[in-house]
Amino acid sequence: MTTSSNAAGAGQFLIGGDLAVHRLGFGAMRITGKGIWGEPANRAGALATLRRLPELGVNLIDTADSYGPEVSENLIREALHPYPGMLVATKGGLTRHGPDVWAPLGRPEYLRQCVLMSLRRLGVERIDLWQLHRIDAKVPRDEQFAAIAQMRQEGLIRHVGLSEVGVEEIEATRRHFPVATVQNLYNLANRQSEAIVDYCAAHGIGFIPWFPLAAGALAGPGSVLSTIADKLHASNGQVALAWLLKRAPVMLPIPGTSSVEHLQENVAAAQLTLTDQDYAALEAAAR
Ligand SMILES: NC(=O)c1ccc[n+]([C@@H]2O[C@H](COP(=O)([O-])OP(=O)(O)OC[C@H]3O[C@@H](n4cnc5c(N)ncnc54)[C@H](OP(=O)(O)O)[C@@H]3O)[C@@H](O)[C@H]2O)c1
Repeated sequence: MTTSSNAAGAGQFLIGGDLAVHRLGFGAMRITGKGIWGEPANRAGALATLRRLPELGVNLIDTADSYGPEVSENLIREALHPYPGMLVATKGGLTRHGPDVWAPLGRPEYLRQCVLMSLRRLGVERIDLWQLHRIDAKVPRDEQFAAIAQMRQEGLIRHVGLSEVGVEEIEATRRHFPVATVQNLYNLANRQSEAIVDYCAAHGIGFIPWFPLAAGALAGPGSVLSTIADKLHASNGQVALAWLLKRAPVMLPIPGTSSVEHLQENVAAAQLTLTDQDYAALEAAAR
């Protein structure tokens, strides 16, 4: 199994056209307690995982105020502040009422509170990439976009991303401000956002696929995925990440883990290059 590497091997992407990151990032949702609620079971391990990121060339971290809540942002600050050479992207717009419970809230004053509190927790004066975790269907979306545009104008936010959106929603948002990234569920097995990936690729918008390691039924013994992984002396997860990286130059996978060993294994996928033939075989198996 490939385990030595640097995220630089995945190549680079300019978020918002001006912030360079290596295309293989880190998702910081898994450094919290069960149900993404409270402190992690192994706090020292979570901090060690975060501190390993710069050594492995990972310079894009994805978090959210709702992870914990607050726990993920606080740990990132404790481990990595002032984040030299790193982009810490966070999100707001979801409230938490218990383990695995997430409720959107897009009222302008709440979105503003999300940003102000993330700034305070992360210890920064501006958030380089702030993502609206969900568009709240109960609040007129133009009110949500106007609040974000205002914070962008004030310099509290540099670039804005969206999460779990379709093309129509991206286009509606772009009438208020540029959309730097879109973060949707997407992996080898789950391709419901295929059209959104294509849209992002055509418009230079970073696409951040969440749950990137999943391969579902495609990962069984004797599967195309396992056969290719065996051939490359790689794990199924590494091949799933390599497939994503080859799918589009705007693809920015953020595999998440609370373990240094798993982090190293995931980053090593940056060194894995799939042939066009293997890519096509995986594509065919998934369809
Ligand atoms: N925008 C949204 O609505 C949304 C929703 C969900 C997630 N996200 C973001 O996307 C990121 C990634 O999504 P995700 O965490 O759901 O999926 P993921 O990164 O594909 O999978 C994470 C899971 O895989 C395990 N894992 C990681 N590396 C492994 C390895 N090398 N070997 C074996 N197991 C491994 C982790 O457990 P261990 O800790 O034991 O390694 C964890 O249970 C999150 O961290 C978060 O930043 C966004």
